[in-house]
Amino acid sequence: MNADTIAPWYRWIEYAAFGRSLEHHRFLFLDRLANAQKILVMGEGDGRTLAQLVYIAPDAQIDVVESSAGMIQLARRRVSSNAKVCFRQLDAGSSDLWAVASAKVDGIVTSFFLDCFDEASARQIVGRLAQALEPGGLWLMNDFSIPPSGWRRWHARAWIGVMYRFFRLTTHLRANKLPPIDVILNDAGLRLIESRTSFGAMIVSQVWRKP
Ligand SMILES: C[S@@+](CC[C@H](N)C(=O)[O-])C[C@H]1O[C@@H](n2cnc3c(N)ncnc32)[C@H](O)[C@@H]1O
Repeated sequence: MNADTIAPWYRWIEYAAFGRSLEHHRFLFLDRLANAQKILVMGEGDGRTLAQLVYIAPDAQIDVVESSAGMIQLARRRVSSNAKVCFRQLDAGSSDLWAVASAKVDGIVTSFFLDCFDEASARQIVGRLAQALEPGGLWLMNDFSIPPSGWRRWHARAWIGVMYRFFRLTTHLRANKLPPIDVILNDAGLRLIESRTSFGAMIVSQVWRKP
């Protein structure tokens, strides 16, 4: 995925499609990381989550892994130069992730990031990151989800199908369907402790904890 092409418009495309719903979910559980010391933010995007996180967890050292130079440029502008933030422009699907994820962290944030990968890649990334998470550490996960049945299932499938087509056209995203994110996090040894959905249950925010 090359998000450079859409970086300047990303926020406005999102507001046009979802209003403030995604924003609400990004921030919903961020305060659970208020006392974290070392946080890894994967696929930050344009810096809206990061700006809020810096405010909520002022003592934390925050590493941001993001493949798009355009997104990093926008995110940098949103945080003060004094903030303890380190931007790492790299592909999370590559072996470069091992260097970043070799240090232990007590918080991980993935917002609308794991949906960028097929199941095999998502499992690999989650497995690596779960190893980097300290026991007791929290993983805040915000993403899309397809409910198991009823009108919500068809509603979510239609929306998510359109989004994958849009991102394939604009960013060359290779994934074409949602990986089973909750199964993958569970298989990586994490335990779900909080969950909230909205928008016909197709947007989900979860807090996972490493036992
Ligand atoms: C759909 S956007 C979500 C951005 C933001 N987290 C949000 O809440 O809207 C996915 C982000 O992940 C980044 N990304 C996608 N694939 C990546 C990869 N393999 N390595 C690192 N970043 C990646 C993209 O550049 C983009 O900023």
